[in-house]
Amino acid sequence: MAQRLRGKVALITGAASGIGESTAKLFHRHGAKVMILDIQDELAEKVAREISSSGDDASYVHCDVTNEDDVRSAVDRAVAKYGKIDVMFGNAGILEKSTRIADFPISDFQKVINVNLTGCFLAAKHAARVMIPQRKGSIIFTASVASVMGGAANYAYTASKHAVVGLTRNLAAELGQFGIRANCISPSLVPTPLSSGLLGLSDADLEEVGHQNSPLKGVTLKAEDIAEAALHLASDESKFTSGLNLVVDGGFTVTDREINVFKGLY
Ligand SMILES: NC(=O)c1ccc[n+]([C@@H]2O[C@H](COP(=O)([O-])OP(=O)(O)OC[C@H]3O[C@@H](n4cnc5c(N)ncnc54)[C@H](O)[C@@H]3O)[C@@H](O)[C@H]2O)c1
Repeated sequence: MAQRLRGKVALITGAASGIGESTAKLFHRHGAKVMILDIQDELAEKVAREISSSGDDASYVHCDVTNEDDVRSAVDRAVAKYGKIDVMFGNAGILEKSTRIADFPISDFQKVINVNLTGCFLAAKHAARVMIPQRKGSIIFTASVASVMGGAANYAYTASKHAVVGLTRNLAAELGQFGIRANCISPSLVPTPLSSGLLGLSDADLEEVGHQNSPLKGVTLKAEDIAEAALHLASDESKFTSGLNLVVDGGFTVTDREINVFKGLY
């Protein structure tokens, strides 16, 4: 297998489980040194151990992405250990249940914005500090199909993911002059602890729900597929791609789910 990230250093937030964990494993298989930034210490340490047989290729740093000191010191540790940062994947996120706007507590709204948006902002801010003098780097975020449509998730989540797209575009506009690219990925439903915890469904049932809602048949979306999208955006194969919101949804968001003229034709 050609190693598409050979010699690169990647930091991944929220890599103790789900999409981040899959991405950490895939990046490592492609030759990257991987640093996991998360708050679930036991789980994240286990993932780092699984990835790295030598104890050198993957490591875990406790980092609450809402805390600037945590993010700053995680980035500094990566630079001290590896001398550079090639990829910052801001992936940590939370999702809580939906309520009517009249019932939505401001504390819940702020909590989700803090993790999903401020967390990405801080990851980008401190990655850029290192990448600008390097004159290269790839910043990637996990947004969601909730970044391009209403009604897919609650108020805080939808607002945070739309804002992640704005953050991505501004980063592309500012940092392009330094050879730094910024992109985000917008998955539809992926079976992970985040989605199964919210919906109370097994991975198999989640895959089935995703499959039913997708015009693309015969395949189901898995965390590994989002990791593949991140691999593309992290690698030099996407060297001219910046400012993109890469929607990975089997066509879900480009299909009107209420008015679908193709329904009933097959
Ligand atoms: N699962 C889906 O259906 C789906 C769809 C679209 C987008 N996403 C997005 O994908 C990303 C990853 O989610 P996932 O589905 O893999 O869920 P997950 O729960 O498996 O992973 C999220 C990770 O983020 C970590 N995290 C949460 N708060 C944190 C904080 N303050 N600081 C550091 N780490 C923190 C968690 O500990 C966890 O390891 C999220 O941004 C989510 O919004 C998920």
